[in-house]
Amino acid sequence: MKKTRYLVLGLGNYGRSWAYVAAKNPEGELVAVVDRSEEALALVDLPVAKYTDLDTAVAEQKPDVVILVLPPHLHIPVARGLMEKGITVLCEKPICSDLKEAADFTAWCAEQGRPCGIAENYRYRPVMRGAKQLLLDGVVGKIRRVNCRFTHYHPDYSMFYHGSLKHPLLNDVTVHHLDLARYLTGAEPLTVTCTEHGAPHCWYQQRPASAEIASEMTEDIFFAYNGTLASPVSTTDWYGDWEIMGDKAVLRICGTTVTLYTAENEKQVWEFPDGGDTRAPLLSGFIRALQENTFCESDIRDNYKTFRWMQTAAQSAECGEEIKL
Ligand SMILES: NC(=O)c1ccc[n+]([C@@H]2O[C@H](COP(=O)([O-])OP(=O)(O)OC[C@H]3O[C@@H](n4cnc5c(N)ncnc54)[C@H](O)[C@@H]3O)[C@@H](O)[C@H]2O)c1
Repeated sequence: MKKTRYLVLGLGNYGRSWAYVAAKNPEGELVAVVDRSEEALALVDLPVAKYTDLDTAVAEQKPDVVILVLPPHLHIPVARGLMEKGITVLCEKPICSDLKEAADFTAWCAEQGRPCGIAENYRYRPVMRGAKQLLLDGVVGKIRRVNCRFTHYHPDYSMFYHGSLKHPLLNDVTVHHLDLARYLTGAEPLTVTCTEHGAPHCWYQQRPASAEIASEMTEDIFFAYNGTLASPVSTTDWYGDWEIMGDKAVLRICGTTVTLYTAENEKQVWEFPDGGDTRAPLLSGFIRALQENTFCESDIRDNYKTFRWMQTAAQSAECGEEIKL
């Protein structure tokens, strides 16, 4: 089968490493990298064409796919422009920073019958895939409650776009955790209550770098979240620590380990070592879906539900009330 030709657009903190992930994928061919900054282009040491202008890159390289790694406010206008030219987009999370803009774009993709992949990579970590299978096998029985705790030290990123996010924790990181909660449970949020807190002891100052979220979900599941980017130490990894409590047992996900605690106080342990960058299986799944003329697991059609949950949590924090989704 013909290899999918793609280019990586945006070579900042994250896009640079995306170029190397994309270059290694055997199912695709990285044909070019694009960034408006010559400096950013110079930092990519790969034998591919380099452009400062997207239109020129597209005209000369005729890619099937653009992997879009620009700051979020550019995602939708750039994705839509590319899709109107017949190019498929795999876009970094979050799709944007506005719920209506995301809803309109999702509806537009549906009208066009076109895919738009969102690079929601956390659910591709082997430990999450392994835990999901155990949950599907029924090891905890009926899921009743899910707790996620995330405690991370985030260095001063105030000079990057991250520094201007209105809800830095929710917009940038919690969006991954909410996606994991949907993925692990197969349930959808029904309500959300969120409180946020500033972090005057660090560079976030009054900006909300910590949050608690409570949500009722379908299947009679309760979700509780406690996260911060402003801890002086990182006590969880980026994926957070999880407890999934069922009526038979509790499943804990911590690092690459899954532990099942049964009612009899016995435990069973599984290891799911990391197998490299989670963007590799994500990109493979995206390419396979394209070749099979279908939608990848984290297409905007699905990912919009994660984004809406996150944005509604931010609204709840602003108005101080529970919101129904
Ligand atoms: N999935 C994850 O775990 C993860 C982790 C980090 C970042 N991200 C996402 O990746 C995206 C990019 O984040 P980042 O930290 O790399 O951002 P960044 O600000 O470091 O980099 C953005 C790059 O885009 C370039 N750029 C901006 N406007 C452009 C334009 N019009 N044309 C061409 N180039 C342009 C800039 O020169 C810069 O090199 C964000 O959506 C972020 O949420 C995801």
